[in-house]
Amino acid sequence: MSQPALQRVAVVTGGIGGLGTEICRQLAQAGRKVVAVDLAARDERIAAFRQELASFDGAITFEAADVSDFDSCQQLTTRIEQQHGSVDILVNAAGITRDASLRKMSPQQWHELMRVNLDGVFNMCRNVVEGMTARGFGRIVNISSVNGQTGQFGQTNYSAAKAGVHGFSMALARETARKGVTVNTVSPGYCDTPMVAAVSAEIRQQIIADIPVGRLGTPADIARAVSFLGADDAGYITGANLPVNGGYFMSF
Ligand code: CAA
Repeated sequence: MSQPALQRVAVVTGGIGGLGTEICRQLAQAGRKVVAVDLAARDERIAAFRQELASFDGAITFEAADVSDFDSCQQLTTRIEQQHGSVDILVNAAGITRDASLRKMSPQQWHELMRVNLDGVFNMCRNVVEGMTARGFGRIVNISSVNGQTGQFGQTNYSAAKAGVHGFSMALARETARKGVTVNTVSPGYCDTPMVAAVSAEIRQQIIADIPVGRLGTPADIARAVSFLGADDAGYITGANLPVNGGYFMSF
């Protein structure tokens, strides 16, 4: 895949998380200048992230921001533009779970999740999209989920937000299609991350038994799809959802 002479700037929210770290690594391997965005609070994780990706020596930097806060995203975008250049590629990978059956779900569990998983996508896209369309190039990849496509017991909040992420992506894809900006979703299945490790062992084993490929996905499996959609020569793919779920949910 050919890469441009110009080094593109890629921003990955949830950048030090289960999927985000590997997404940062693969984008850096593809020659992108990567900014990993995550909450400031997790000092130990930030230190581990720096150590894990030390070999990229300056190609990946860390910026603290809260995606659920519009002003924080606005300030973040300004900081990145000043320090690294305009944002060419945005990967919205920040996400949380607040699993509970609806009859037990508190309004707080609903709202916390919506603020990160859905408002976060708006807050980031809203702040970078104008620059992308003005410059005539952009790649936005939003991380949805197989559970947005199928629904999952205990995840009315998460399934609603993740289905919403794809609706959002299709709408924005139409708005930006003539300006060189593509907007797509990647829908991971169950992957080997702390988020999935938090599901009870019994339910997890049942899920793995239902995956045709016979194993959990890896962060690298997901990052591969993100990197593909984020490539300069992926300009004719927009408004699409790319499922990466080991065959757990097949659709046409
Ligand atoms: N499917 C069907 N029935 C279920 C069930 C399930 N997954 N989970 C619980 N039940 C049943 C129980 O057997 C019980 O039935 P009885 O009343 O007849 O005994 C009843 O529902 C219990 O209901 P509760 O509301 O009390 O449920 P709970 O509190 O025991 O469990 C839960 C709720 C913890 C959310 C549990 O259902 C669960 O862990 N679900 C899976 C959640 C999940 O897969 N999350 C994915 C996280 S990873 C991720 O999201 C990443 C990604 O994108 C893929």
